[in-house]
Amino acid sequence: MTDLYVVFGNPIAHSKSPAIHAAFARASTQDLIYEARLAAVDGFKQAISEFQAAGGKGANVTVPFKEEAYRLCTRLSERAARAGAVNTLVFNGPEIFGDNTDGAGLVRDITHNLACPLAGQRILLLGAGGAARGVIAPLLATQPASLFIANRGAEKAKALAKGFSDIAPVNGGNFAETADKSFDIVINATSASLSGESLPLPPGLFATGSLAYDMMYGKGETPFMALTRQQGAARCADGLGMLIEQAAEAFFVWRGVRPATTAVLDDLRASLNG
Ligand code: ATR
Repeated sequence: MTDLYVVFGNPIAHSKSPAIHAAFARASTQDLIYEARLAAVDGFKQAISEFQAAGGKGANVTVPFKEEAYRLCTRLSERAARAGAVNTLVFNGPEIFGDNTDGAGLVRDITHNLACPLAGQRILLLGAGGAARGVIAPLLATQPASLFIANRGAEKAKALAKGFSDIAPVNGGNFAETADKSFDIVINATSASLSGESLPLPPGLFATGSLAYDMMYGKGETPFMALTRQQGAARCADGLGMLIEQAAEAFFVWRGVRPATTAVLDDLRASLNG
């Protein structure tokens, strides 16, 4: 029987994951089906039980269920435990193994697709919510020179930084506290653009040759890319590559095969802008 995988979310209709995984499966000649499934906001646990009972092999989890998925797992990867959230599930009998491939996807997109090393770099991470939390440990594993987390509320950023300080020194504060610093890589993990708001970035943040990376993506340049280009970032990128790379990492977790991503990224970019 062909192995079945799904992505659970709410909403889910516009998910790009089925197309991405279908392309990975074709290119790597893996026999699998991958579908998008809407779960009711209060029906995630039931949806998982039903999928597990039906013999589903694995699932991706997206908004708003990543924290609930984390709590449902019987076993977690180190990176999922650190993230406090799960985006990849593996079903094996009664066991539910939870992993989080978001941070690995971000790191791979920056270091491989954008050919921008993270080791030895000064990184600024904007935001202290779930999206930020999910990428901190993988960023620290690349051994940057420093990592500063900036958030509207300084206390939330400081608390988040403290939770990772056993791995490497991490600091946190509000946006104003970045005023006298400069950074090689600035990553937007806030949801500001969803409400059409602009971030209060102090001038002079961007070091020569710096990269501004938006974990969001859309048609054309995102508002964060436009803002940071204006403020002196040498290069700007959106999060489409992260989306593909977190999917590739999930595919690897499930199938033990690492799919090529370049052509899939090119196709998805073309259809987004077309
Ligand atoms: P997600 O799971 O996408 O990270 P979240 O946990 O709700 O969502 O976190 C959203 C993040 O975006 C938070 O860091 C939030 O800042 P606050 O903690 O101060 O609320 C940040 N954010 C949202 N809108 C913002 C805005 N207009 N300006 C700056 N930061 C914003």
